[in-house]
Amino acid sequence: MRTAPVIPVLVIEDAATARPLAEALVRGGLRVLEVTMRTPAALDAIREMKQVPGAIVGAGTVVNTAQFDQVMDADVEFIVSPGLTETLAAPIIASGVPYLPGIASAADIMRGLDLGLDHFKFFPAETSGGLKALKALAAPFYQGKFCPTGGVTLASAPEWLAFDPVLCVGGSWIATGTMDDVEAKARAAAALPR
Ligand code: 3PG
Repeated sequence: MRTAPVIPVLVIEDAATARPLAEALVRGGLRVLEVTMRTPAALDAIREMKQVPGAIVGAGTVVNTAQFDQVMDADVEFIVSPGLTETLAAPIIASGVPYLPGIASAADIMRGLDLGLDHFKFFPAETSGGLKALKALAAPFYQGKFCPTGGVTLASAPEWLAFDPVLCVGGSWIATGTMDDVEAKARAAAALPR
């Protein structure tokens, strides 16, 4: 979460596009890449992206233990989930792989703290009440660190990043267009102050 201000959220339909995409993102300064488990190509995409020097490749949208086993086989370097269940979090925590589960309520955060977690994805960030909601949620949980994702844009990212408990934001806006577009958007994202 401290490596770059933005984690690009990637939905990859064709594994053949994965490596050039990862190269463009890394060239632009975003090394931490979240490949979502939403497409049949995701695991092959992870394996392709891991070949790119400098890339730190993780799996996103991991929602059950079967997917956890699959992404561990692909040697992911971190795991992201849209929500937080003990069934999934316990084995991920036991594996030692960095884990960023989603939270959107005080109860979610309390369940995470019970499991020993204090770094969370705030998801879906904008529709869960935006920065105002996160400020209210973060107040009682002084130890929490957050990565708001869902509806975040280059325009809204600076406001999120200015809030101290926010270490980075996530978003899919970077990985669209040509590889030159992706590199330019990654460069702008990597330069965001925090
Ligand atoms: C996610 O999976 O984290 C979100 O779908 C990304 O949200 P965005 O497309 O609004 O950036």
